[in-house]
Amino acid sequence: MHEHDVVVVGAGGAGLRAAIAAQEEGADVAIVSKLHPVRSHTGAAEGGINAALRDGDSWEDHAYDTMKGSDYLGDAPAVEALCKESPEEVIQLEHWGMPFSREEDGRVSQRPFGGLSFPRTTYAGAETGHQMLHTMYEQVVKRGITVYDEWHVMDLAVTDEEDPADRTCHGVVAYDIQRGEVDGFRASGGVILATGGMGQVFDHTTNAVANTGDGVAMAYRAGVPMEDMEFIQFHPTTLPSTGVLISEGVRGEGGILYNEKGERFMFEHGYANNDGELASRDVVSRAELTEVNEGRGIEDEYVHLDMRHLGEERILDRLENILHLAEDFEGADGLTEPMPVKPGQHYAMGGIETNEHGETAIDGLYAAGECACVSVHGGNRLGGNALPELIVFGKRAGHHAAGKEMGEPEIPTGKSGDWEPAEYEFEVAVGTVGDRGPAAADGGAVASDAEGLLEAEIERARERVEDLLARKGRNHAEIRSKVQKTMTANVNVFREEEGLKQSLSDLREAREAYTDVAVSDPSRTFNTDLIHTMETRNVLDIAEALTMGALARREFRGAHWRKERQERDDENWLKHTLVSWNDGEPELWYKPAILEGEAKTYEPKVRSY
Ligand code: FUM
Repeated sequence: MHEHDVVVVGAGGAGLRAAIAAQEEGADVAIVSKLHPVRSHTGAAEGGINAALRDGDSWEDHAYDTMKGSDYLGDAPAVEALCKESPEEVIQLEHWGMPFSREEDGRVSQRPFGGLSFPRTTYAGAETGHQMLHTMYEQVVKRGITVYDEWHVMDLAVTDEEDPADRTCHGVVAYDIQRGEVDGFRASGGVILATGGMGQVFDHTTNAVANTGDGVAMAYRAGVPMEDMEFIQFHPTTLPSTGVLISEGVRGEGGILYNEKGERFMFEHGYANNDGELASRDVVSRAELTEVNEGRGIEDEYVHLDMRHLGEERILDRLENILHLAEDFEGADGLTEPMPVKPGQHYAMGGIETNEHGETAIDGLYAAGECACVSVHGGNRLGGNALPELIVFGKRAGHHAAGKEMGEPEIPTGKSGDWEPAEYEFEVAVGTVGDRGPAAADGGAVASDAEGLLEAEIERARERVEDLLARKGRNHAEIRSKVQKTMTANVNVFREEEGLKQSLSDLREAREAYTDVAVSDPSRTFNTDLIHTMETRNVLDIAEALTMGALARREFRGAHWRKERQERDDENWLKHTLVSWNDGEPELWYKPAILEGEAKTYEPKVRSY
């Protein structure tokens, strides 16, 4: 058993920043990650980090843009914290040596991004996440923070009181991918989940294969609510054959979208008469798919993104990485021809419910970054707001877990504030399948005493690994593929009742199939079949909660479009969706969005770009 004050799960931007912050407060910190830190998916972030740094800009304007972008489902205290603290975090990165792109006068460059009223996106070419990840990893090495890489965290060690609000997290159990053994990590101060996104729930995604929502699913099974899971961002410019991201930075620099007729459709078809290609992502993705659905797409699938007019010098200076991606993955030369692009799953606005200190409803358990929902993005995230979220809330969670006094949070977690039950009746059974175990979601709590808890969880995890290796049954790949296909077909940019119900029914079948899952590769070391099998359980839990939230929310807000009600319904739906795991059954409930901030109350307005 390993023992530390603070255990951070995940080594992307949020995890590294959390670990550095906890270490700054004097804690003995360890990072546990299934990947080497510099292979984390933050490294794939391209376009930039929003921060109000310049004269003429302000954190208040950044907060206003973010609340509008969220379609008024962001929580103002979190949004204001993000926008106020992002500039100091960018300056901190610069002081740690991050090679930002710069102007002739030496200032850090900023470019326009979608939905922003000021060009406030700082960047390092089109590889901002890569540079940020390496800069912070250097700090982790310099500070001697312990990193356990190639350890797949399987579950949390959480006490088993009936009310999740009474439970405590004491650590995690993990599988050492290199040695093929299970062990425990005890955390006396806190566990911080920073496991990133869940793009593998869909089959066309910018996310890495490793993005299976492990932290979200673990927290859910332990009793922490998942918040606003139905809000999924589909990025407008991904390469059609692979889902590889073509940065919004291309449009920020002046790239133009054309349909098959050569029309600049964002303006010519009136999708965004002011901002055109730089409307927010939900607007642009819907516009592209409308063009395709109405017969103006190319090969009935995609549209063109043209950056040729920017000129070779500017492209090489600011977007060189894009040239390589388009060439390598699509065979398109961005200097001489337009690039094919279509919407693809990119980001989860929802996740583990937290307050602005990163605390969850369970004592000792924190979350930060994409796996968390604090909530700064509400119904739609603005491009360039993910990287500041990682560092602002990673730092906050790290400080709090290490014992720093941070005052009373304004955002309630669990059922500690106003809440209301959902009235929606699901026609398809959700949750645990029969009494066959281990089902996809089988609860995280096994003991009430802290002493025995880790040992009991280690034993349970060992039994699970041995069982998966010993039994005969189905391969995870067919189950995961069924999930990805139904989610992409039915829970995509455009959603309607019948499709959502179909998805829930397909997920039920996939959950049933998972009770027979088995691992065919018997090896003990680097067994990716085993790891993917365990991850698929997480994919299943998340897909189900996401679809439940989408089915119940009968309105159109941000990235969640519903055929049955194609307008925002502030009277009934200015509220967050929560899904809690209660003894094998998901429970759907709601809590109000917080629109009162320090700067102002963000009254919902018609959202146009
Ligand atoms: O398009 C991009 O470069 C992605 C940025 C983001 O998701 O914030």
